[in-house]
Amino acid sequence: MPVITEIEDLRRIYRRRVPKMFYDYAESGSWTEQTFRENSSDFDEIRLRQRIAVDMAGRTTASQLVGQDVAMPVALAPVGLLGMQSADGEIKAARAAEKFGVPFTLSTMSICSIEDVASHTSKPFWFQVYTLKDDDFMKRLFDRAKEAKCSALVITVDLQIMGQRHKDLKNGLSAPPKLTPASIANLATKVPWGLEMLQTKRRFFGNIVGHAKGVKDPSSLGSWTAEAFDPSLDWARIKQFRDWWDGPVILKGILDEEDAKQAIKVGADAIVVSNHGGRQLDGALSSIRMLPRIMDAVGDKIEVHLDSGIRSGQDILKALALGAKGTMVGRAFVYGLGAMGQEGVKKSLEVLHKELDTTMALCGERDVKNLGRHNLLLPEDFETRWR
Ligand code: GLV
Repeated sequence: MPVITEIEDLRRIYRRRVPKMFYDYAESGSWTEQTFRENSSDFDEIRLRQRIAVDMAGRTTASQLVGQDVAMPVALAPVGLLGMQSADGEIKAARAAEKFGVPFTLSTMSICSIEDVASHTSKPFWFQVYTLKDDDFMKRLFDRAKEAKCSALVITVDLQIMGQRHKDLKNGLSAPPKLTPASIANLATKVPWGLEMLQTKRRFFGNIVGHAKGVKDPSSLGSWTAEAFDPSLDWARIKQFRDWWDGPVILKGILDEEDAKQAIKVGADAIVVSNHGGRQLDGALSSIRMLPRIMDAVGDKIEVHLDSGIRSGQDILKALALGAKGTMVGRAFVYGLGAMGQEGVKKSLEVLHKELDTTMALCGERDVKNLGRHNLLLPEDFETRWR
């Protein structure tokens, strides 16, 4: 068993173990990947204020997200195709999150279906929706999520059309992988992954296949989203979804003050400041750099979470200190899942928690809820460099 001390260790194992097309799918941004890179590198611009001689006994990272108790203010972000990173990946990640005490968000584009994840877990998870043109499908999707007792609805608002990720096109990304000379050559080097995959029946988009009409090739994510996603999603439609769901609604993909204000108007309970992990608008500013402006605009009126770029507990602390009530991690847990399944997701969460807890202590804080701007040192132009 290798010694895992940081998320990067998991990424390296993940890369060796999982077929290239799925590693590349997770590890890509759109076009030049500038936003993808800056989502992480902008965290490095923020420094921490060291304080000493503070009693550090009895620390706590416990908090609440949309009124639900969490062991730390982190949720597993919705990520498509988890069941291709590891056989039955959504079930494994949901179980690890449940044991740790943080929410798992199931993506519409999951391999395991809502019903399947619900029957293999004992606590409610969050459900993420994409808007498809097929209205009957959408209504049924909401009913299915209600039936599965999902405890929050996450509406992704930044992907009516998909940003282009060059590698996915070059690799011919599909679920399950199509057999071509290149994919066969690569799969031949991923035997443990393949053996696990042969033992499960869950190899297709579980929420879609057999449920949505008019999808010609449901294995190809790119052509599928182009055909089936509703490019006309607007605030009226978002409001309609808000009204269809009687629990907490979280809008994910807000990166602008005006959109944040609009989210309040449609009655969202929380927003996630996110640029989709740099996978959509290349050239957008990083989420962490946009966070202060959004906090200034709406921070006292709605719960704000931050997603995109988090790879450590220090990053989580920085987001919280800038005012976010919660954070979402995507790649940081996918690396763990691909590297070692459920154990790996558990390991990712443990690493993030330890880093958050230790960093908090060395900043002189005992309670994650007391973090604030007083814990940070920011470059003078962090918020104003791009206007
Ligand atoms: C889908 O959400 C993607 O970013 O691939």
